[in-house]
Amino acid sequence: MRSEVDPPAAAGSAVDPWLSLGEGSTPVLRVGARLPELAGGPTVWCKAEHLNPTGSYKDRLAARAVTIATRTGLRGLLGTSSGNGGAAAAAYGARAGLPVCILTVPGAPAAKLATATAAGARILPVEGLGITPKETDRVFAEVLRLTQQLGLFPFITAWSYSPEMMHGAGEISIELAEQLPETDAVYVPVGGGGLLTSVWRGYQGLPGRTPRIVGVQPIGSATLLRASRGDLTPVERVTTSVSGLQVARLLDAAAAEAVTTTGGHVVEVSDEDVWAAQAALATEGVVVEPAGAVALAGVLADVRRGHLTETDVAVTLATGAGWKDQAALERISGPPVFTDPIGIDDLAQVLEQELSR
Ligand SMILES: Cc1ncc(COP(=O)(O)O)c(C=O)c1O
Repeated sequence: MRSEVDPPAAAGSAVDPWLSLGEGSTPVLRVGARLPELAGGPTVWCKAEHLNPTGSYKDRLAARAVTIATRTGLRGLLGTSSGNGGAAAAAYGARAGLPVCILTVPGAPAAKLATATAAGARILPVEGLGITPKETDRVFAEVLRLTQQLGLFPFITAWSYSPEMMHGAGEISIELAEQLPETDAVYVPVGGGGLLTSVWRGYQGLPGRTPRIVGVQPIGSATLLRASRGDLTPVERVTTSVSGLQVARLLDAAAAEAVTTTGGHVVEVSDEDVWAAQAALATEGVVVEPAGAVALAGVLADVRRGHLTETDVAVTLATGAGWKDQAALERISGPPVFTDPIGIDDLAQVLEQELSR
């Protein structure tokens, strides 16, 4: 599926010619079949990006970033992340033998950070990153300055900062065009807008029709709706708890153009809507983190408003895996139940109870 970047020369090195840990080529799954809200409504699919090697679509970007860094002789990666990008950069950096340092949004889910540190990355939380525009801008400026000064790759997952690697997420559209050519609308979770812009650009590079691109954003970080009306004012202080989408400023203004020129629109959802969509997906075996359920929350909101009809085919991007955010899973299930060990003679009786539930 790679088309944009030539493989780095790897003669005799431990690095694969194409740096890959098996990212991409993710399946599409029908979802919502048991949801009463969707009965008689649109056909809804999810692109299972949470099945990528480190549990998010960011692996597609990290594969590009590290390939480029290796090929151009850079010394390592310095970037920002709410956790998923950091985990991805860490794993691919480790694979290539490149050091990775990631500045993180404070309070990022522990499993995301542990994935990154297990792969050897240095993780440094920075006060205000993502949450306030002033701090976010200062951090990005410093990352750009230091990457240039020190010969590092800037791992900021937005077109306005690291365009070459963002093509990696455009592969989602290339795959979708093959898997579901009948798609009418693609629902994309939005933080800084890089993913949505990639999905749009991916479709634009293809001969066929581009579906409506719909941006779904938590109310507590709502930058895209106002941007689609020409107002790029940042959010003064992000209040959503949805990890991955806490970005005070729309980093890629092209995301607004993507929505308007494809006949799409913007849906704003509450954190509670997102948790409900996450719980609904889990009951179908699609266990994602909250950001991975935002697109479905957007579909459900649109069904309620009559924006989607029974003839529509909608694709939601399930961007991140459930295991990345233990606290969010426990919100659904309660704390893990550690019962006293049973005697094996009691098993038949326990099963009887389970099967009659
Ligand atoms: C799971 C998940 N979904 C969606 C996004 C949204 O990406 P963007 O900031 O490009 O809009 C992110 C970004 O971190 C993410 O981690």
